[in-house]
Amino acid sequence: MAKEKLRIGMVGYGFMGRTHSNAFSQAPKFFDLDREPVLTAIAARNTERAEEFASNWGYGSVESDWRALIDRDDIDLIDIAAPNNVHHEIAIAAAEAGKMVMCEKPLGRTAAESSEMVAAVEKAGVSNMVWYNYRRIPAVTHAKHLIDAGKLGRIFHYRAQFLQDWTIAEDLPQGGEALWRLDVDVAGSGVTGDLLAHCIDTAMWLNGGIDTVTAMTETFVKERPHNITGKVEPVGIDDASAFMARFGNGSLGLFEATRYARGHKALYTFEINGENASLAWDLHDLTRLSMFDHSDEGTERGWRSIHVTDGEHPYMGNWWVPGLHIGYAESFVHQAADFINGLDGTAAAPTFADAHQTDLVTDAVLKSGKTGQWENAS
Ligand SMILES: NC(=O)c1ccc[n+]([C@@H]2O[C@H](COP(=O)([O-])OP(=O)(O)OC[C@H]3O[C@@H](n4cnc5c(N)ncnc54)[C@H](O)[C@@H]3O)[C@@H](O)[C@H]2O)c1
Repeated sequence: MAKEKLRIGMVGYGFMGRTHSNAFSQAPKFFDLDREPVLTAIAARNTERAEEFASNWGYGSVESDWRALIDRDDIDLIDIAAPNNVHHEIAIAAAEAGKMVMCEKPLGRTAAESSEMVAAVEKAGVSNMVWYNYRRIPAVTHAKHLIDAGKLGRIFHYRAQFLQDWTIAEDLPQGGEALWRLDVDVAGSGVTGDLLAHCIDTAMWLNGGIDTVTAMTETFVKERPHNITGKVEPVGIDDASAFMARFGNGSLGLFEATRYARGHKALYTFEINGENASLAWDLHDLTRLSMFDHSDEGTERGWRSIHVTDGEHPYMGNWWVPGLHIGYAESFVHQAADFINGLDGTAAAPTFADAHQTDLVTDAVLKSGKTGQWENAS
């Protein structure tokens, strides 16, 4: 029997436009979905490039303004893969039109923005999700299962880092295509909303809510020319951000993100230490989960490296044969599949409401970076 279609209107054809388009294309080939995703239309301002993109990925049509997607009756889901400054307006308009909404992270530039977005989807009663894709890398999902099964016991410590090195050059401009992440008006913040948001989402998913934070933030290069106007302007984003956190379960957190760690491109790592066991994960070796289990025989006790590729590992039964791995792109495939199969009312997370909690933490980190005080994060 033909499945009901889920007709997708995508906003943005950049990095995330590609990962999402790939996800909706691959998900029905590898997962048994309740509905059939259809790449119905893509909206972006450069029509020529959008048309090339549409033809490559198989979109049925192109719109030069995202508002046209929202006006169309043949679209069920608006997927926002555009920069942070447009998330709020597009998501609210989509919800008010009764469309389901998926949105890239961070949900808002501020928690005030994301709180309005949560209110809009809840008022409209539309399904919603935020693309915190790292939750769905099988090794990370496996960590969640081990923690929830009580393998670690009481948790004492959580630490995470997200390190990059691409903004060190002083003559790098800010703003415009490719460099919007340096423009505070577009991005909302620097590494706090961009990189730490991922670390915080994973941390709260694995270890529960964060109550308070104290942070230090720094902008190493204070002025940059604007990419579009050429005018030299103050840099408003945080180049580096580090914070300590107290989790609701009594454990302590340590987080760091920077774009000034020479030699690191996208080194996202986390470690969690419990009374019985510890787990560690590293994006550069993403199929492996490291585990130290104190209940192992004393003389054989040590860190083991679990290759998360067996059929019984999360998501892996749907891919190749045991021992063969998948990568970054597939985390988005899993997220698309879970979203579609959550439309029966089970509502796969993270929802807008979950992602708003992350925005509350990033707001508190940025505030503490200015005040030097402990700040409430929930
Ligand atoms: N989940 C992740 O791991 C991850 C990774 C990268 C980016 N992101 C998030 O995804 C979003 C997009 O980032 P990206 O790296 O794909 O950026 P990008 O610069 O590669 O692409 C942005 C796209 O948005 C389009 N766009 C910009 N303004 C628009 C507007 N007003 N209307 C319609 N389209 C518009 C651009 O034309 C471009 O196609 C951001 O919110 C970012 O934080 C998430």
